[in-house]
Amino acid sequence: MARLVESLNQTLVWLDARLGLAGLKSLAEKKAVPVHRHTIWYYLGGMTLFLFMVQITTGVLLLFYYRPSAEEAFESVQFLMAEVEFGWLIRSIHHWAANLMIVTLFLHLFSVLLLKAYRPPREITWISGMALFGLALAFGFTGYLLPWNELSYFATRVGTEIVGVVPVAGEFLLRVARGGEDVSGATLTRFYAFHVAVLPGVALAFLGVHLFLVQKLGMSVPPSIEQQGGSRGSMPFFPNFLLRDLVGWLTALAILAALAAFLPAELGEKADPFAPAPAGIMPEWYFVFMFQTLKYLPAHILGIEGEVVGILGFGVAGVLVLLIPFLDRRTARGERSPLFTWIGVGLIAFVVVLTILGYTADPTK
Ligand code: HEM
Repeated sequence: MARLVESLNQTLVWLDARLGLAGLKSLAEKKAVPVHRHTIWYYLGGMTLFLFMVQITTGVLLLFYYRPSAEEAFESVQFLMAEVEFGWLIRSIHHWAANLMIVTLFLHLFSVLLLKAYRPPREITWISGMALFGLALAFGFTGYLLPWNELSYFATRVGTEIVGVVPVAGEFLLRVARGGEDVSGATLTRFYAFHVAVLPGVALAFLGVHLFLVQKLGMSVPPSIEQQGGSRGSMPFFPNFLLRDLVGWLTALAILAALAAFLPAELGEKADPFAPAPAGIMPEWYFVFMFQTLKYLPAHILGIEGEVVGILGFGVAGVLVLLIPFLDRRTARGERSPLFTWIGVGLIAFVVVLTILGYTADPTK
């Protein structure tokens, strides 16, 4: 045992001489996490990061069997589920971790919004976060089509149709998204390239910026806590906060394993482009609030097609949310900013209520 410890120490000394590990150690020792009644929200970013790592790992494993063509995609997933040892488990974990990651992402976004963590100097942390949010939605949209089953085929047809509604560039965007006039094998290869190469590459770049800034700027103390005299103190990131993070990650892993084992990902029927669209086609749950809003809009608003107004409205709202750090001048000056708190609460209520309506309202209306 003593010899093992000694040789481990020697290896560390050898690595330190070449890589400067002591610098990393002092960085870890320097970082401290403020302790106050909102500290719990600091765990959500790390939880999202954990789920993202699960996605990369399980995604790479799926690539060993998946075949990206309209002729073989469905069969390759069927083979993976039925024949490959633990193939069903890997696919089910990929499916559930994607959903859980979107949940933690929404919670992370809304918590940093309400705690005003976007105020200077964290504007770029917010912008890189918004980019990651958009990328996560794009991961979900492109991944949904890959098993090439009936549900995913028709949901993609409806989803890409919405892109086509965009004024001026709509028709062009529709053809770029589909790789042709309709959803076909060309769409599948395109979505595959985005899902496994383009999006991961871009996401890793933004994640690098996001995490670098979190490390450089440290965790922010919410203005509401500052106004009450500041935080109670701080805890070292290493090992105190990291160990708490790990407990959260293990819990997430346990939940993932239970979901994957008891509710494995389904496959359904193979897509048939010539079959009529099945009734009640719905997008993934995280797009439902937008889908439902478009349904409620009248056919025409001020002479413009209702759907077009809706899509433009979502575009403008997205840009405004992206610019919140620059629009909320009061928070930037260290003053109270109830307007932006209400905007945040309104946004959360909008997403939650329209999602619930999407699942409960009469689909014919
Ligand atoms: C894949 C997606 C994302 C990952 C992996 C991620 C990861 C993290 C991590 C590990 C932290 C530090 C701990 C914490 O505050 O929770 C953090 C902080 C932060 N994130 Fe994210 N994040 C993501 C998306 C987002 C989004 C969508 C937003 C908002 C638009 C955002 C905005 C922020 C801000 C402003 C902070 C600083 C919080 C503070 O200093 O108090 N992030 N993120």
